[in-house]
Amino acid sequence: MEASSVIPAEPVGGAAPVASPVRVAEPFTLVIFGATGDLTSSKLLPALLRLWRENYFAEPFAIVGVGRRDKNDAQFRNELREAAEARDPGQPAADESWARFAASIFYHRADFNRAESYPPLAYRLHALESQIGLGGNRLFYLATEPDYFPQIVEQLAAAGLLPRDSDTPWTRVVIEKPFGKDLASARALDQRVLRCLREEQVFRIDHYLGKETVQNLLAFRFGNGIFEPLFNRRYVDHVQITMAEADGMAGRRGAYYDQAGALRDVVQNHLLQLLALVAMEPPASLAADDVRVEKGKVLRNLVPIRTADVPRQAVRGQYGPGLVGGRPIRGYREEEAVAADSATETFVALRAEVDNWRWAGVPFLLRAGKRLPRRVTEVAVEFKRAPTGLFTAAVRGGGLCDRGCDCGATCECCNAGNQMNTLVFRIQPDEGISLSFAAKRPGMRLVLGPVEMAFGYAGSFDEPVPEAYERLLLDALRGDPTLFLRSDEVAAAWTFVDPILAAWRDDSSAVPNYAAGTWGPAEADRLVSGCRAGWREP
Ligand code: BG6
Repeated sequence: MEASSVIPAEPVGGAAPVASPVRVAEPFTLVIFGATGDLTSSKLLPALLRLWRENYFAEPFAIVGVGRRDKNDAQFRNELREAAEARDPGQPAADESWARFAASIFYHRADFNRAESYPPLAYRLHALESQIGLGGNRLFYLATEPDYFPQIVEQLAAAGLLPRDSDTPWTRVVIEKPFGKDLASARALDQRVLRCLREEQVFRIDHYLGKETVQNLLAFRFGNGIFEPLFNRRYVDHVQITMAEADGMAGRRGAYYDQAGALRDVVQNHLLQLLALVAMEPPASLAADDVRVEKGKVLRNLVPIRTADVPRQAVRGQYGPGLVGGRPIRGYREEEAVAADSATETFVALRAEVDNWRWAGVPFLLRAGKRLPRRVTEVAVEFKRAPTGLFTAAVRGGGLCDRGCDCGATCECCNAGNQMNTLVFRIQPDEGISLSFAAKRPGMRLVLGPVEMAFGYAGSFDEPVPEAYERLLLDALRGDPTLFLRSDEVAAAWTFVDPILAAWRDDSSAVPNYAAGTWGPAEADRLVSGCRAGWREP
């Protein structure tokens, strides 16, 4: 399959040119299971609205929400409009263009647990498609609780809605994360899904891959000649990947989260995908399988953390009451739909290693948590310091620090001579890339100070930064799987994560062990031993 989606050839934003190759050229029906859920109103519909406004869809098209609640098309459209306005005040939905968009949205009530629900759905889709003049191209989006994924796929197939062998019209299925709860369940899910669909029809989504800066990891590494030669064990001291969230459990989110925990929720997928992108070899081309093969190799080369080594290489935490942004915050166990004695982790820190020629011995420090001081996701590549201590020695021996202090080169001023070069990919917010290094401060003394070269989207490009779901929905509708996960990547990630899950299942360590609004439990500090500098506080 042709796929040059990592770096689109033409600008996004404004009205796309009519012949733009990234448009969805054919009419389609998008069927969303879990249509009354938060993902649909907060992410999927706003993304579809923007894509439509920016002229990425050929008309006609239909979006059919499937949910259990009883409502008609008009009620569903109203609810979506209200949600779109509440979440995106910059894009008022109550205008004439919303009315035109909303005319393509429909609601179908169905209990997707029951086989009897599917023939009426098939009938409704046929009826809508012939009424609107759609050719039968269908994208089914599974945004329900993960437990329903296999039965929805099987029932769709049983109702004749998943033709396996034809690409005209096409049928595809997007499956939300988490894909399984562990390796065994992911394999079982794959088997059931792949009995009904060809691999090319399955789009396993990880929305981090749709983020602009995440795609820029590849562009930065392989589209420039100057950085890639440094990406290896000779020059890199360690890599830190942080996904910090200030939020806790909104609404009834705890019902899902308490069963999942941070390791399944974001480490197995988002963080390991970021690791794969920063560590992978240059792909043979940007075609979907070439990129995914290279990511898969990294994931398979992760050094397994044996269950006995988990206490040394992984730390988990759960937030207790605390302050975030000066506001008092309740502890995780007090959140709605969370067990009062829950041991579920809301924080994970790991020390991973990739056992290949490029990276052997380089720690990859991964950290994710809820209720940390702020929302920030970044990948920081910390380079080794200069091989001779020219400036460090001068600072230490000669007391050259401006402050004339006797700190042993530990204060910020003296330590500048010891400066690490850090390359930071800021995934969110303030998306961009920066490189820090040491420069001589002006003046008569030889004192160095940390400085930065930075790229930010705002100052460099005029185009707006699209949301991850815009990009991924567009790709799924176009049939480009590059930014979706292949089955082997998912399995390799679970293979790495499973022993940690096993160790934690039987571990009764005391939680909560960090206060909301802090950077997680102090035990995480031991994972950075031997690395130059500790955890970053981005
Ligand atoms: C989801 C997780 O995949 O990513 C959530 O299930 C998390 O727990 C969310 O909050 C974070 O996404 P983003 O795009 O806001 O970083």
